[in-house]
Amino acid sequence: VGHDRAESKIFYRTATSFNGFIADEDNSVGWLFGVDSGGQAPPDVLAGVGVIVVGSTTYEWVVQAMNLLAEPQKWQHVYGARPMFVFTTRSLDAPEGADVRFVRGAVGDHLAAIRTAAGEQDVCVSGGGDLAGQFLDIGALDQIVLGIAPVALAGGAPLFPRRVEADRLHVTDVSRRGQFVNITYAVGNPG
Ligand SMILES: NC(=O)c1ccc[n+]([C@@H]2O[C@H](COP(=O)([O-])OP(=O)(O)OC[C@H]3O[C@@H](n4cnc5c(N)ncnc54)[C@H](OP(=O)(O)O)[C@@H]3O)[C@@H](O)[C@H]2O)c1
Repeated sequence: VGHDRAESKIFYRTATSFNGFIADEDNSVGWLFGVDSGGQAPPDVLAGVGVIVVGSTTYEWVVQAMNLLAEPQKWQHVYGARPMFVFTTRSLDAPEGADVRFVRGAVGDHLAAIRTAAGEQDVCVSGGGDLAGQFLDIGALDQIVLGIAPVALAGGAPLFPRRVEADRLHVTDVSRRGQFVNITYAVGNPG
């Protein structure tokens, strides 16, 4: 698991309701679109990112929301040539021409391949929360970047279903974009 943190990092980045859900009970993120971003352009979330990692619910939502199986050329516009590792126990379709790598089982069994694919760039785990937690469990999560929306949801997909106490999380950046509050935490992994 050990690596040189100066070279590249693995981070979990997501928008979230202030009460800790990243999607509602219907797996929808429609509530995010009603949040005022103050006229500011969204951050370039893929800058410096060499690999994206997602769970299958997130993957299937992206593919369906952007109609990527029917319009695979859109994939390159959003992700470029970046590989996406998708954790799933099922057999799923990938858009034609997209570098989608389906993997299953322990995150640790795939970490070397994920790091190799990213090279000197970062690895972005974009959800869900439990998958990000699986990286934390093996000491492989370096940073958590949250965009907190002024929205509460009654239920849905959890932001980060783990117990992590204050000795392991340090706020390294706070900023505001309209009604979003962005917080970056450095994760201390037990040595
Ligand atoms: N607010 C935001 O910015 C934001 C960001 C990201 C995602 N989202 C949304 O949040 C929701 C997250 O969904 P989710 O909580 O269900 O999480 P998810 O990680 O997207 O999907 C969970 C699924 O991934 C598969 N999986 C996870 N770990 C695995 C492993 N180690 N090996 C094999 N398969 C594994 C399993 O599905 P199988 O049945 O395929 O095995 C599991 O049920 C989605 O609706 C997504 O669209 C929102």
